[in-house]
Amino acid sequence: MTKHSPLLDGLSPARFLADYWQKQPLLVKNALPDFTSPISPDELAGLACEDEVESRIVLERDGPQPWALEIGPFDDEHFAHLPETHWTLLVQECNKYLPELITLLEQFNFIPNWRIDDIMVSYAPEHGSVGPHMDQYDVFLIQGLGHRRWQISTDPVAADNVIPDLDLRIMRDFQATDEWVLEPGDMLYLPPGVAHYGVALDDCMTFSVGFRTPTVSELLTGFLDEIASGLNDHQRYHDPDLPLQTHPGEITAGARARIRRIIRSTMADDAVIDQWFGRYITESKSGQIATPPAQPLSTDEFLQQLHAAGALWRSEYARFSFIDNDADEIILFVDGQAWPLSRALAKHVSRLCDQRQITNDEFGKALHDEPFTRLLSQLYNAGYVEFPQNGGK
Ligand code: SIN
Ligand code: CO
Repeated sequence: MTKHSPLLDGLSPARFLADYWQKQPLLVKNALPDFTSPISPDELAGLACEDEVESRIVLERDGPQPWALEIGPFDDEHFAHLPETHWTLLVQECNKYLPELITLLEQFNFIPNWRIDDIMVSYAPEHGSVGPHMDQYDVFLIQGLGHRRWQISTDPVAADNVIPDLDLRIMRDFQATDEWVLEPGDMLYLPPGVAHYGVALDDCMTFSVGFRTPTVSELLTGFLDEIASGLNDHQRYHDPDLPLQTHPGEITAGARARIRRIIRSTMADDAVIDQWFGRYITESKSGQIATPPAQPLSTDEFLQQLHAAGALWRSEYARFSFIDNDADEIILFVDGQAWPLSRALAKHVSRLCDQRQITNDEFGKALHDEPFTRLLSQLYNAGYVEFPQNGGK
């Protein structure tokens, strides 16, 4: 990405991160001058009819109560009976289904890829909206078709500012502090907690690049589950040196110290936490996993096909990240698995994690490095990378 891209209104990515990221909203007119929706409203509805695709419809007026939520998959009949106005279709993880969105995602490479969740695409006819609300995560809202009026409020949102008994958390009281009409190519960045209310002014599609913000509770539960599953029943509290207590009813300082030691010893090792996190954050959230190729290839066969293909694409069904802890290993994480690799491969492993598409020229001499090509063929046989003609399942 160039230093001062139109994506960030001429700001350098470093300035954007310092001044806006997780701090304040930023409206960028014409952020993506050539961006138009790579999918039509009908095609989006088609996606929402597929079993493996996560989709929702929000009906402002015509459901059993205001702002009713319907969960997909839907069928053609359902779409045929929707009202003319005041509804929204939302489809998650469209980056998995639309290879055109990979270039869009790559524009956000100034944020670590493990922080990126997915691209959600919405379609709404005139007046369609999901209501005034706030999200707990950062989002870049990119206009892909038609026009949407966005109102935001940078005032803090009180915990009880919510209409009770609805399917969705809709704000009872929303006073806009800013308002804009977005056209195709315009973008609005919102940090977590900023209330927003978008209403379609005509046939409207919005592309939301959303981010992951795991809660501390999710992190702790995930880590402790894993630690606990690695323990056996013989590892338990023991006190062969139990002294005679004055008060049998007391939990003594000695017992408390022992319990604290047991708990703290599970957290002691940074490398254990790091390894767990790499696997945890690259796991597929929706449970949809990469499909291995019908025909697994030997490393030689894989190389032959790679030479013919000229490039390798990462599957959007697998998350890639790495940890370089300055030890003699670099750890590659793909789809919840850890691959400890020699530091000699560091440059190539980082490229694999930084780029979604890599040409053979970019691989360069690495294609003569046996451990690296063996790794690539293993990733291929697991379905985590694929040749371009197989891209965009
Ligand atoms: C939409 O695309 O209509 C909703 C996006 C959002 O409010 O987060
Ligand atoms: Co929102």
